[in-house]
Amino acid sequence: MKGTRVGIVGAGNVGATVAYSLAMKGVCHEIILRDNNMDRAKGMALDMSQAANAARSHTVVSVANDMSELTDCDVVVITAGSPRKPGMSRDDLLMINANIMKEVVLDIKKYSPNAVLVPVSNPLDAMVYTAIKVSGWDSNRVVGMAGILDSARMAHFIYEKLKQKDPKGVGYAAGQIRASVIGGHGDDMVPLPKYSTIAGVALADLLTDDEIEEIVEKTRHGGAEIVGYLKTGSAYYAPAKATSLMVEAIVKNTKQIFPCAVQLGDEYGEEYKGIVNGVPVVLGAGGAERVIPIELNKKQSEQFKKSIDSVKELIDTLENNKFFN
Ligand code: 2OP
Repeated sequence: MKGTRVGIVGAGNVGATVAYSLAMKGVCHEIILRDNNMDRAKGMALDMSQAANAARSHTVVSVANDMSELTDCDVVVITAGSPRKPGMSRDDLLMINANIMKEVVLDIKKYSPNAVLVPVSNPLDAMVYTAIKVSGWDSNRVVGMAGILDSARMAHFIYEKLKQKDPKGVGYAAGQIRASVIGGHGDDMVPLPKYSTIAGVALADLLTDDEIEEIVEKTRHGGAEIVGYLKTGSAYYAPAKATSLMVEAIVKNTKQIFPCAVQLGDEYGEEYKGIVNGVPVVLGAGGAERVIPIELNKKQSEQFKKSIDSVKELIDTLENNKFFN
């Protein structure tokens, strides 16, 4: 039955928080956690199932003893991988996590052959590419999580700036800010202030160019800032909420538009065909059912190209190492 079973491979902070978020909202009927640390996964599954009862939610959380028990999932979220350590770029993780991704995807292909995959592990865009190549599936069935997270970070930094600017230090419009970020999930991501609004009010009406530029820079390094504080791993509340929104759109076939990391066709130009990057897509039961092309001005196009080039470099590293042979 469609829309009832969600697998989560890697039940660390991000994976567990995705599960919790889905369970509290009753987004799906079953969540199956798969993690190398079985005892931790079992403890969390029990705890979450009990929390779901408290919340009067129908979601039940269980564990898979190995990948062969992760059967017939409609969606599989993949957070497995080595996390970022302080000072480490997402790209440093490339080869380590590509190997993990390959192993996981081959198993999912066998045991949940109809699933939509939602990779979350970093470096995200290269992991999405890896999952597409290894699965051999239509690329719309592999949708990476990043754009919702990066946009949420930008929205928060807009809020902080408005508060800082207010003579009385009063913040406003929290939760009403719609920020737009496209491009890869790396330091070259492309925040789009022109497509961002404060409850429909243009950023430029309330913020100066310098202030907007400061927000853009903070957004690009929003993940690293949190790694710097947490020290033992990456952010997880915002990444998990962003992931659960995607899972919900897929299992409920909502056709909502979200920025996600997908393999491009010719929507952004013939020259980018085959590369993975973050763009607005329509999410539904089929995964990324449609890529929405947005008109970019000269500056935005240059930034988008730079972001594409960074992802291309990672893909080339994988290809040159004969990773897919
Ligand atoms: C982040 O940016 C985990 O990639 C994620 O925090």
